[in-house]
Amino acid sequence: MQPADRYAVIGHPIAHSLSPRIHGLFAQQTHQHLVYTALDIEPGQLASGLRDFFANGGCGVNVTVPHKEAVIPLCDQLAERARSAGAVNTILRDSRDRLLGDNTDGIGLVRDLTRNLRLSVAGRRVLLLGAGGAARGVLAPLLALQPLELVVANRTVERALALAHTFSAYGPVRGAGYAQLDGSGFELIINATAASLHGQVPPLPPSVLGGTCICYDMVYGHAATPFVQWARAHGASQAHMGLGMLVEQAAESFFLWRGLRPDTAGVLAVLAAESADAG
Ligand code: ATR
Repeated sequence: MQPADRYAVIGHPIAHSLSPRIHGLFAQQTHQHLVYTALDIEPGQLASGLRDFFANGGCGVNVTVPHKEAVIPLCDQLAERARSAGAVNTILRDSRDRLLGDNTDGIGLVRDLTRNLRLSVAGRRVLLLGAGGAARGVLAPLLALQPLELVVANRTVERALALAHTFSAYGPVRGAGYAQLDGSGFELIINATAASLHGQVPPLPPSVLGGTCICYDMVYGHAATPFVQWARAHGASQAHMGLGMLVEQAAESFFLWRGLRPDTAGVLAVLAAESADAG
């Protein structure tokens, strides 16, 4: 029997990553002979760690915090969606051993919103919280869904203004500070800040919630994140966490590597049940 094809997620820290479990379930479901592990690589070791992995027969990697931007110069070629995101979360090795950098985070969010949650973004007023790497990665795919308006709000207002300016050619997007949002009801609010990771919620006036408003936290946890708790407490009609985005971005990476699309609904159900047991 041929040795299994090798894949990994690289990050620092990485111990709690769900990616090995997700790709293990994909491989099982599609009968692919592969192993997928988590590799802890410190920032100073990124270039050598990546080189070693591929020199030893590695076929592809997922890239997570804090390496998503730093791997860009280590790739031989970038897909357009990685270029616009300014970040790489997937690397594949082609038949000529060149490393191709791609980004599946945006399509992961879009698939979770539109297919799993059956939300329509077209013609809606959308608020995106945050102006860091996570927000940047989903801006172009969100604007491609043709919202009526997309407002990027951030604690540091200048970053929101600059990000909106960068993406102005993609659709109707503008930047703002949180205080400026008072009185403006949105139909979809997506949290792309790191606030949930610090147990915090961006200082949002409750009036940002329109009559019918859906809230989505790109962060995922076993228990409701602070943003999801805030959304529920202030009457959002739905509040979701980013497990579906995580599974969908993984599925798109799997497709890039193996040419097969796993059944994400089945995998999501398994993970949700495991999370309920753990929580
Ligand atoms: P990432 O790549 O994860 O997006 P980042 O570039 O450090 O990381 O950006 C983190 C984002 O979360 C920023 O939008 C940050 O706001 P600032 O630009 O004002 O720093 C936002 N953020 C982090 N902690 C926050 C908090 N407690 N409240 C509101 N926003 C927060």
